[in-house]
Amino acid sequence: MERNRWSRNLHRQASLVFVVIVLFDAVVAALGTPPEWLFFLPLIPLAVLLVTGGHLFALPYRQRSRRATA
Ligand code: HEM
Repeated sequence: MERNRWSRNLHRQASLVFVVIVLFDAVVAALGTPPEWLFFLPLIPLAVLLVTGGHLFALPYRQRSRRATA
């Protein structure tokens, strides 16, 4: 249960970081020619979102199969 709460919190926080970086990238791109690495920056929180999101997605199925075997 503790791990579920942990991954949900991390997912929520990473989604905020992701949105802020994307908005920041958009503003910098609108102002001039941004360095290329700026567009790779959102991939860091997106990777966290993918892992924690995958975990959150699997939770109900894992709980169901655990209940069925118990
Ligand atoms: C990268 C792939 C992603 C996957 C596989 C994924 C998957 C999920 C899953 C399975 C849930 C739980 C839904 C439930 O409660 O049953 C969730 C919740 C959520 N996702 Fe994602 N997600 C992804 C990306 C994102 C992105 C890009 C954002 C926003 C920028 C985002 C924001 C959220 C938020 C705010 C919640 C609710 C968290 C909470 O309950 O407090 N996710 N996501």
